[in-house]
Amino acid sequence: MFKYAIVRKPCKALIDGLSEANLGKPDYDKALLQHADYINALNECGLDVKILEALDDYPDSCFVEDVALMTPNCAIITRPGAPSRRGEVEFIKEAVFQFYKKVEEIKGPGLLEAGDIMMVGNHYYIGLSNRTNQEGANQLIAILEKYGMSGSVVEMSEMLHLKTGLGYLENNILLACGEFIRKPEFQSFNMIKINEKQSYSANSVWINGTVLVPKGFPETVKLIKEAGYKIREVDVSEFRKLDGGLSCLSLRF
Ligand code: GLY
Repeated sequence: MFKYAIVRKPCKALIDGLSEANLGKPDYDKALLQHADYINALNECGLDVKILEALDDYPDSCFVEDVALMTPNCAIITRPGAPSRRGEVEFIKEAVFQFYKKVEEIKGPGLLEAGDIMMVGNHYYIGLSNRTNQEGANQLIAILEKYGMSGSVVEMSEMLHLKTGLGYLENNILLACGEFIRKPEFQSFNMIKINEKQSYSANSVWINGTVLVPKGFPETVKLIKEAGYKIREVDVSEFRKLDGGLSCLSLRF
């Protein structure tokens, strides 16, 4: 169960965030409304949400998931692979230290964005993407082992982040799309396969028994409902334009 979430308000420079989505620029005012509803959804799932102020110098800074990993035993400050995002870590530290006494840090030449990390119980899958390298993964695995947890790497080539195409819904149930459907390391899960057209919705998020699903993906909603979960749809169309998904917008712990 999760108790807390940390989010950061989108800044005006959001419209200049990194993007390969080819869906146009986000509408800032609409993004603010969607972000407020996202916070409502986190509250509805029982989370106490800490809202950080917007960071005008960092267009992608509302995607807080990438800059820290919050485990039950320690927090880890990451080192983003995107150069324009690297400075964001300095601004997450204060919030992380409010919740954790044990805080570790990924150091150069390691690169790691926590959108590339999927927690399954005590184990953490780490995607090797354009944002996360082997050195970053090695450092993370050493930190996890120091605190009684474990990690393993996942080779990937199609997606921005590991969780762009995977969502763990607890109870051994895994949402997966694209290249992840065939990966040997995921074959022991009860896999809900998400087709190409619905692929954005693979980034759905389990929070305390409810699954947050991006609005506009009825087939995914049906599959997740059939698996026995309560659904809360959240419209994140403006964040999608920046390759951001539901998980990217918060740290949950
Ligand atoms: N626009 C989010 C990211 O590329 O990290």
